[in-house]
Amino acid sequence: MKKLLALLCVVALLVCMLAGCAPKGETPSGGDNKKQNEENVNNDGDKTGDGSVQVGIVLPTKDEPRWLQDQAQFETILKGEGFTSQVLFSQGSSATEKTNVETLISKGIKVLIICAQDGAAAAAAVEDAKSKGVTVIAYDRLITGTDAVDYYVTFDSFAVGAAQGQYLVENAPSGSGIPLYLYAGALSDNNAFIFFEGAWSVLQPKIADGTFVIANSSEAEALKTKAALTRDEMSKIIGQITTEWDFNVAKSKAEANLTAVGADMKGDVLVLAPNDGTARSIADVFASDKDVSSYVVTGQDAEKASVQYVIDGKQSMTVFKDTRTLASDSVAMATAILKGETPQTDTTYDNGVKEVAAKQTNIVVVKQANVKEALIDSEYYNASEFTGL
Ligand code: BGC
Repeated sequence: MKKLLALLCVVALLVCMLAGCAPKGETPSGGDNKKQNEENVNNDGDKTGDGSVQVGIVLPTKDEPRWLQDQAQFETILKGEGFTSQVLFSQGSSATEKTNVETLISKGIKVLIICAQDGAAAAAAVEDAKSKGVTVIAYDRLITGTDAVDYYVTFDSFAVGAAQGQYLVENAPSGSGIPLYLYAGALSDNNAFIFFEGAWSVLQPKIADGTFVIANSSEAEALKTKAALTRDEMSKIIGQITTEWDFNVAKSKAEANLTAVGADMKGDVLVLAPNDGTARSIADVFASDKDVSSYVVTGQDAEKASVQYVIDGKQSMTVFKDTRTLASDSVAMATAILKGETPQTDTTYDNGVKEVAAKQTNIVVVKQANVKEALIDSEYYNASEFTGL
């Protein structure tokens, strides 16, 4: 009996860890399991009173401020909605994501809004949901290789990359042979490809004509005369320059790159950083290299810490993706679906298997000059959250 109890405890602990109940580095103690579980969940009220949930929302991780912005918007918007909902985080794990989807299915969801940890791996989870009559909305990241995605709500990710590339072109030092360091997102995220494609569309002519010289990717260098890259070609480049969307990977890669190059690849440099978290890490590395005289570095997400970096001149730009719009568009879609109506869409995205009907939102470039107008006047942030504005 004792052995059986011990075994049950181990199994319960494993399930809890898979579900991401324990903050990193902490082991949940037996009696606290329920509390830990609830910390991972934001239940927006059980209006049916029977524990069922109509709309399930799964977000990738609490470890990046970007997704906490989305969570906050969902929480605000869902308060006034006439349906029950629950938000779960996958904490960077496709296995936890699958468990989260199963949990929500068992609570009877009719609509699943999911931002995939890994766009290909998430196919199994959404196929499971679809087979149980759930309508699936991919949120921000497209789920690929499956026909189980019904709708997609997204920002214009090509425009994000193009805006980053354009900023580098417009703010490059004069002359030619300017070192360009390229970094990208995770290979498992379809967006990483779209961002890179957008950036490449603007940067490639400048690389091909020698204005910029790629400092850290032999694959990109080999393809520099190609204006449009195939997915395979992009995979090769991103494979070399990926940050995996991880600050630490970004930092180590930037350090390794600066150690590997000669003095001719330092001085005044340009850096394509894919998002704010990685941009701050990379910027810190470039700032501390005594042979780098100046750097221009991109970002995206308008995370608070990066907005402060932009104000302080440590990060050159960010791209504001208004999560209020993305969250409210997906909630509007869910509402239409629950009423038996067809949600509004304005474009389609190819996920390798089908053209997914999509609703797309525009982006805003933020630099020192327009921080106030873009982020404070629009009431996304409060001026008191920053210094030196
Ligand atoms: C999102 C970005 C985010 C990145 C890392 C991408 O799919 O579009 O906003 O910075 O993932 O989480």
